[in-house]
Amino acid sequence: MKALASYSIKGGVGKTTAAVNLAYEASRSGARVLLWDLDPQGAATFFFRVKPGVRGGVERLLGRRGELAAHVRESDYVGLHLVPADFSLRHLDLRLDGTKRATRRLAELLEPLDDDYDVALLDCPAGLSFASEVVFETVDALLVPTVPTPLSVRTLDQLVEFLDGADLRPGRRPEVWPFVSMFDWRKALHRDLLETLAVAQPPFFPTAVPNSSAVERMGRLLQPVGAASPRTTAARGFKALWSEIAARLWP
Ligand SMILES: Nc1ncnc2c1ncn2[C@@H]1O[C@H](COP(=O)(O)OP(=O)(O)OP(=O)(O)O)[C@@H](O)[C@H]1O
Ligand SMILES: [Mg+2]
Repeated sequence: MKALASYSIKGGVGKTTAAVNLAYEASRSGARVLLWDLDPQGAATFFFRVKPGVRGGVERLLGRRGELAAHVRESDYVGLHLVPADFSLRHLDLRLDGTKRATRRLAELLEPLDDDYDVALLDCPAGLSFASEVVFETVDALLVPTVPTPLSVRTLDQLVEFLDGADLRPGRRPEVWPFVSMFDWRKALHRDLLETLAVAQPPFFPTAVPNSSAVERMGRLLQPVGAASPRTTAARGFKALWSEIAARLWP
């Protein structure tokens, strides 16, 4: 099983939107997908109409006998399962800090499911906390939605700088895989930055996810855009982006 995180230091950049739609596209392509909602807001859980809550909360999950399999729920889509969010995730940092071998804990929870899924996708809250560091040591790559604005690009640079200096377990530094999120071709700033990002390091995926009202409608329809409106630019964008991600995961 490969593990990915939808992650950014910055809030509101499209992490959850990407996690939901990429999980859907991955499952459509035949992959067995586990979406793990690590954000106490539980937006990804909400989009998949799954009831939030993990029995015993993070405390039990991170405990010595905690296991992930007990919390896995089916979604409306074949091959797409979900570990719902729980409000106690707001204490994830604190709880991890008091856990032995904390930086391995999330990886250890995923390990027993290794043969059951092709890919695990973690939807993370914004910020750079201890829990984020634990996520870094858990996943193969960070998918980083980056809105083509200077501030958003700056937080991507901050992330790379942080990883360069971070004291992660050997071999546990995730790759940073940015992609353009909420691209609006009517904005000159977006168009200009798109050209710069096309040659940036670490390399961006070729597909830019467009700003789209179909994405905004997700909150009402509670379906991934590929299911609700497959012919929209957003749905095609996520589909193309997933194939680019899959090509990097399984070259
Ligand atoms: N491609 C898009 N086109 C239009 N709106 C979008 C797009 N992507 C995201 N949005 C909207 O932007 C807002 C933030 O998106 P989202 O919740 O995915 O970001 P996030 O990074 O997960 O936020 P948070 O940091 O709060 O977890 C939402 O209202 C969402 O509908
Ligand atoms: Mg989110």
